[in-house]
Formats: sequence, C-alpha cells, structure tokens
Amino acid sequence: MVEPLEKLAEVLREVGVGLPTPGMNPGATSEMGGGITESTSSRDVILHMDNLQAMASLPDASIDFIYLDPPFASDATYWHEIHLPGHTIRQLAYSDSWPDGLGSYLAFLVPRLAATRRILKPTGSICVHLDSHSSHYVKIALDTIFGAENLINEVIWRYGKMSNTKRRFPQNHDTLLLYGATPDWYFSPIHNAPSEYRTRFLRDLTDNRVLYGSVKHRSDKLITRRIAAKSRDLGRELRDDDVLWDFDTERKVQDDVFTDISIVRGNAREGTGYDTQKPQKLLERLITAFCPEGGAVADFFCGSGTTGAAASTLGRPFVLTDINLPAIQVSRLRLPQAAFDRDPALTPPSFLVDTTGAISDFRLDDLGLGAKDKAVVAQLLVSDPQSLIAGHIGETVIDVFGREATRPR
Ligand SMILES: C[S@@+](CC[C@H](N)C(=O)[O-])C[C@H]1O[C@@H](n2cnc3c(N)ncnc32)[C@H](O)[C@@H]1O
Repeated sequence: MVEPLEKLAEVLREVGVGLPTPGMNPGATSEMGGGITESTSSRDVILHMDNLQAMASLPDASIDFIYLDPPFASDATYWHEIHLPGHTIRQLAYSDSWPDGLGSYLAFLVPRLAATRRILKPTGSICVHLDSHSSHYVKIALDTIFGAENLINEVIWRYGKMSNTKRRFPQNHDTLLLYGATPDWYFSPIHNAPSEYRTRFLRDLTDNRVLYGSVKHRSDKLITRRIAAKSRDLGRELRDDDVLWDFDTERKVQDDVFTDISIVRGNAREGTGYDTQKPQKLLERLITAFCPEGGAVADFFCGSGTTGAAASTLGRPFVLTDINLPAIQVSRLRLPQAAFDRDPALTPPSFLVDTTGAISDFRLDDLGLGAKDKAVVAQLLVSDPQSLIAGHIGETVIDVFGREATRPR
C-alpha cells in the first residue's frame, strides 16, 4: 500500500467513529465560537475562519447544496493581484504545499469533508472540485463518508486552457465529484446547449425548424427514423409542412462533461485577480441543478466568492467561509455588486463575522502592515481603486504578504 492510502485509511478510521447521519448533530454546538448565530442564520453571510469551526457552528440539516473547491495538493502558491495602470498590488492568497505530501493533505481535507454531512439536508448534495493531483484519493474518502451508492456524478469540466507541453497531453480538465446526503438528493435537469442536430440541418432550417418537405428525399438514417416516429405519433402519412425538429424547444440535456465554460481569463469582466477563481457560470449551472429555489448554498473554501455571486444571482441565500483574509476581502467587494446586479434596490446583503463571532467590517489590522501600506491597501481594496491610486504608490509592486516570495511558474 502506498503511503497516502495508509494515511487515508487512518484518517477515515478516525472520522468514521461516530460519523453522524445526514441532518443529525451528535455534539456540535454554536458555542464553538464565531460562526452562525441566530441573528445571522437566515441571511447571506461571509465567515472569516477555519471552515471546521464554521461548519461546527451551523445548524443540522440547514444547507441544500455545498460546493467545495479546496486546495488541490498542487504544491504551488497562489496570489491575489490587482493590476492598475503602472502598478500591481499583490498579496499571497494561499499556499497549497503540504509538508508530508498527499498524506498531510488528506489528513487536512477528509475531516472537513466528513463535517459537511451533518449540515446537509437529507435532500442535499455536495460537489467537491478537484483535479488529478488528488481526486482519486478523495473519491475513496467520499465513497466512505457518503456511501458509494450516493455518488451522483463525476463531472468533467474541460476549461479550455492553452498550454504547451512536450511530454504529455496538455492538462485541460478538472473533476467534480457530486454526492447526495441520502439517495433522495434534489436534482433538476438542465437543458442547455441547443440540440446537437441543429448544425446538421443548418441549410434546411425554416424558422429554426426542419420541415418534412425539405428533407424527405434524403436517405440519412437519422431522418428516416424521425419520419417514422413522427408518422407513428400522428397516425398518418406526413405532409410537407409537418415539423420534424423544432430547435426553439428541442435542447440538449446537459451531460456530465462540461465543455462550454471557459476558465476565467485575465481580461474577463468577472475576473477579480484571485488565482484559482472559478467561472460564475459553472457555479450557476451546479446551483440550478442541485439547489431548489430559495434553498441555501454553502462554500467553505470560498476564495474570491464565486459561489456567493452565483447564489446571489440565482436568488439563493449563501454561507461563505475562507481562512485567509485576501479571499474575504475579494468576496466582500464582489458580493454587494452581485446582489446589486440582481436588484438595484437591495442594500448589500453580505457581512463579515470574525473569529470571535462579532459582526464587523474586515479587519485591516490583521494584515500586519505598516501605516503607509495600510492606508494604501485600505483605499485600494475598499474604495474605487482606479481613482485612488495616483500619488499613493510609485512604480513598485507591493506584496502585502510574502514580500520575499516570487510568483510560481
Ligand atoms: C481553490 S481556492 C477557492 C477558489 C474559489 N472557488 C473561487 O472561485 O475563487 C481554495 C480556498 O480555500 C481556502 N482555504 C484553505 N484552507 C482553508 C480552511 N481551513 N478553511 C477555510 N478556507 C480555507 C484558501 O484560502 C483558498 O481561498
């Protein structure tokens, strides 16, 4: 047995002791400090804390859909960068290096995966977003925690990144593992892409439809089969104006390979400068499929807050957590805007709960900056960056954290 598997077996044994059934809380209480309180539980909320602590403070069976995009064990460092004319402000977002490799990564992640089970509603589900660094080990963990029979999907997201590799095929997908809390998970099918047949009939289309008259002489099997089925349905011979395909209504059911959503590129409108930011469209697709209208969404590794932006756009309440301040800053700046997009009359719905449970603004003091840097960062991050840059910093790159670090290749 290779070392990570031994570690995984050990961690699973530990978390397996008293693994609660979905929706049942054997011991966790909101006295664990911080987190959700009665006054915050029905609102959108951003928690700046370790997600184990955040989850412990959530009520049983309170969440419909959990999306987790944890570190992938990629052995890299990730940054948040704000690019302004002539200036870049850069802060360390998070590190994804593990002292003992996969073993210590799994020892970190698996208890967090196990902790999600209690807070999911029986109809709830979880999506864990990974890549080939760890997805196979994590699948074993999820099979154990949720039951292999509750695996809903293994979604392949092909993100369309260009890369130049000489010794292997370019890596171009992530893996999303979806599990139901119980076999009664909620799911609403998505009819997404236009029917794949449409392109075959482009030159035959009349008002986005294919009429019997325009294709009746073809020997194409697809057409002859459709003619036979239609004729059977109508109980008569077809006439020239009978519709064989109507592409306004005929759409393709989304399958488990997503190829139409691209990675967030540097110049994308939704780009926040947070490395590893996921596209909002991806989250919107998942939430639409797995979270009923009005249901609650949670993301305990929220990064730049994509899940909150998607949930907000779709009118679902959300809980976001991240342990690192840059993620909280970016999410906080982004979310009022997302809510605003939905309804300009709304006041910003999100707020921050710090590690003591107090509801506050984010605490710039936690950054450990000198007074000058602090003033600059406060202005750049909290206010309109474009209008405040002039006169505050020169041509230098300010690394708020990790001054000695260099950007990983
Ligand atoms: C891959 S990123 C998430 C990116 C996010 N999906 C987005 O679209 O921006 C992983 C995040 O997990 C956070 N994280 C790592 N350990 C954590 C912990 N113990 N509790 C909460 N967040 C954590 C990191 O700070 C990082 O922001």
